Formats: sequence, C-alpha cells, structure tokens
Amino acid sequence: MKADLEILTSLAKRRGFAYPSAEIYGGFQSTWDYGPLGVEMKRQIRELWWRAVVQARDDVVGIEAAVITNPAVWRASGHVDHFTDPLVDCLECRARVRADHIEDGACPSCGAVGRFTEERSFNLLFRTYVGPVEEDSSVAYLRPETAQGMFVNFENVLTSSRRRLPFGIAQIGRSYRNEITPGQFIFRTREFEQMEMEYFCDPSESLDWHRYWKEERLRWYREALGVSPELLRLRDHGADELSHYSEATADIEFRFPWGWGELEGVAHRGDYDLRAHAGASGRQLSYFDPERQEHLVPHVVEPAVGVDRILIALLFAAYDEETDDRGERRVVLRLTPDVAPVEVAVLPLSRNERLVPTARAVWERLRPHFRTQYDDAQSIGRRYRRQDEIGTPQCVTVDFDTLDDDAVTIRDRDTMQQVRVPVAGLVQALGERIEASRPPAGPAVETPARGS
Ligand code: GAP
Repeated sequence: MKADLEILTSLAKRRGFAYPSAEIYGGFQSTWDYGPLGVEMKRQIRELWWRAVVQARDDVVGIEAAVITNPAVWRASGHVDHFTDPLVDCLECRARVRADHIEDGACPSCGAVGRFTEERSFNLLFRTYVGPVEEDSSVAYLRPETAQGMFVNFENVLTSSRRRLPFGIAQIGRSYRNEITPGQFIFRTREFEQMEMEYFCDPSESLDWHRYWKEERLRWYREALGVSPELLRLRDHGADELSHYSEATADIEFRFPWGWGELEGVAHRGDYDLRAHAGASGRQLSYFDPERQEHLVPHVVEPAVGVDRILIALLFAAYDEETDDRGERRVVLRLTPDVAPVEVAVLPLSRNERLVPTARAVWERLRPHFRTQYDDAQSIGRRYRRQDEIGTPQCVTVDFDTLDDDAVTIRDRDTMQQVRVPVAGLVQALGERIEASRPPAGPAVETPARGS
C-alpha cells in the first residue's frame, strides 16, 4: 500500500473528495464534508450496492425508514440498554478513550502508561427531543443503524409485497453514533452512511444463507469494486466479540495501512430482533408457511456496511505512485471505472479559439453516456496528471489535427498509451475500453437449496 493516512487525507482535500467539516471555524471533531469528487464516488458505491443487492435479485426489496422514530424501537432492540462501549479517562491529560482501543496500556493522546480511571459503560445513542418541550417524555434517538427500520416494517413489507421466504429488505441511509474515539479520516465518524440488508429465512436454512452471504458479499468487493483479493479477508468473530443480538458474525476485512480493519459485517442475528419487537409491540411478527401450514419466526442474516468506509478503502487500494525515465513522479488512483468520479475527461490541447468549441462539442456528445469533466486550464501535461490523481480512466484530447480529420486521441490512465479514434465512433470506443477494464466476473456463489 503506497499511501498512508496523511497522504490520502491531503489528496482528498486537495482534489475535492472530502474536507474537514466547517473548516473555516477550525473543523469539528473528526467530522468531514464530501466535495464534488467524493459525492460522485459515493453515489457510484451506493448504486453498485443497490444494483447487486436489490435490483439484480428477485428476492430483495428496498425501503427508506425514518432516522428519528418511536424510541420504543431502540428500547426493544436493546440499544438503549446495551449499545455501549467501555470508556476510561486518562488521569494525566483527561482524554476520554475507548478502553478496547488502548494498546500496551498507553494513552493514545499523551502516552502516559496505566494512568486511567475505572472502566465504565458509555451509551453511543445520540439523544434529542421531539417537539418544543425538552422533557423525558419527548426524548427520541437518532438511529444508530438502519437495520431496525427493516424489522419494524417486516409485517408491512410481507403483506404489501406478498413475499415468501427467503426474502430480504434493504436500505441505504445515514446512521449516527456518539463514538468515543472517531478518527482515521472517514473510517470512524459519528455520522455515517450504511447499506444494510436483512435476509429473512427459514431457521433450518439460516446457516447455509449465512455462508452464502459471506461469499457473495466478498465476491462483490472483488468483482464490482475491483478490490484485489490480497487486500480482503473474511474473519469469523470469536464469542467474546459478538454483538448483543448476534449468534455468529463474520467480518469482511480490508488491509488498511494500520492493519486489518472491518469493512462489512455479515451477522447471523437469529430471531432476536423479530422476537424482541413482537414482545414489545404485541404484534405477531411471524411468517405463515403455506406448505407446512404453520407460523414460524424467520431467522435473519445481515450484510451491513458503511459507504464512507468503502470509499476510504477504495482510495487506499487505488493509490499508486510511479516515477518515469526522466525522474518525473506521477500519482495515479487506479480506480475501476465504475467507481471513478470521472470516467472520461475532455481536454483541448490549448485554449485556442478554434479548439475550444470543437472540444466542447465532443464533450456534449459524451455527456449523456459517461461521467465527464471538461478541463482546459494549464498545460496538457499537468491536466493529464490531475486526471490521473483523481482516477479518471480515459482522457480525450482534441488537437489541431481534429479540425481536419475529425478524430481525437484517447489516452489511457494506466498504460498512458494513446490511440487515435474518429469522433463518430468515440462513444463506442470509450465504452469498449471501459468494459475491458472492468474486473472479470468469477463463478456465481451457489444459493442454498430449499429445505437444505
Ligand atoms: N446493523 C448492524 C450494524 O450496524 P456494525 O458492524 O455496527 O453493524 C456495520 O456496522 C457497518 O457500518 C460497519 O462494518 C462499518 O462499515 C459501518 N460503520 C459502523 N460504525 C461506523 C462509524 N462510526 N463510522 C463509519 N462507518 C461505520
């Protein structure tokens, strides 16, 4: 891995992926605002996830639930009582730290060894008040996960979309946690975006579906996002790591510069949530099996991931630096075209008054088909470097020959090779190049047989 956190954070700010939030006021506690390139990349990540997990399947549907909902949801789910992290204070510098983030007994803030208060539990829920009166009865919470939206809507989705087991409900949206130690850029923040899916299945098939979703999700990182297999691994949680709801969880981990870190959790939640909400709401949250003519409470397998965390992992995985024969250094983000913020940049050789309108006409032609950018500022060499640094796979250059032969040059980000292509065939040529640079699809993960 060629970038460390500092290199990446600085590139992100310089090029417009993400900035420290409210920077003109000195920033705000590990909070980040996304810039023009960051939002494009996030949109792509969401789009690819939604396509793979919802639209390309016939067994998953989507919802969008409220961020602030009835607080009874969070009491029943266990978050009000159990969603805690162990907290200690450093007696030397007063820093508050997560006890499980302390290495070798040293304070991560001042380095003092073994000088901490007793450990206590800190609840991560963000509290707020709904309505004009701030009293106990108006307390509500910002959701700490999107998952509960799927459980409390289980019955609605089941009846309104006439589903049969197994089926899933998916959601993408913001979640909020009052993390004790946010940090490492956008890796851990207090406001983040999750993509979660609850897959409801017959309890007798749930272990097979858990196995299936671990493999299927791992495949997505390799094939949809182009992450190299050496940077990914599956790790099963030990019994001491399991969340309050989980019977078994595996993490899909990414090799960050600071070590392996969680990208996505694939949890077997059993019937914990449906039973908890059935008990608290008095509703029968079960499924009537028409073949067996009996009610059952489905088990749930949940792949859950953060958009921001995927974004930081992709930037690390893509970052590359090379030096050519003349000793010139080039920074390249080797992003797969589907996640690159810009797919094609259109660059006139110069701001010559004949070239600019021609280049703009080429740009107009490409815009309905690709995510594009037009750039005519500074030398062509510097513009190529700029596009390399933001991961643009293809640049199209309009030069003086274009005025005569109606052809342009396509320059490839990775090989830097250039080919001449007629403008009439440009959309097709670019489409073919993008297609050819997508990661190859491997064999499909086998779905468990019914009644297995
Ligand atoms: N519904 C299960 C659940 O929320 P989780 O492991 O706590 O499980 C799922 O969260 C994913 O959400 C994580 O794997 C991570 O990608 C992302 N995530 C969790 N907390 C985060 C934070 N503070 N900042 C950024 N992403 C976070």
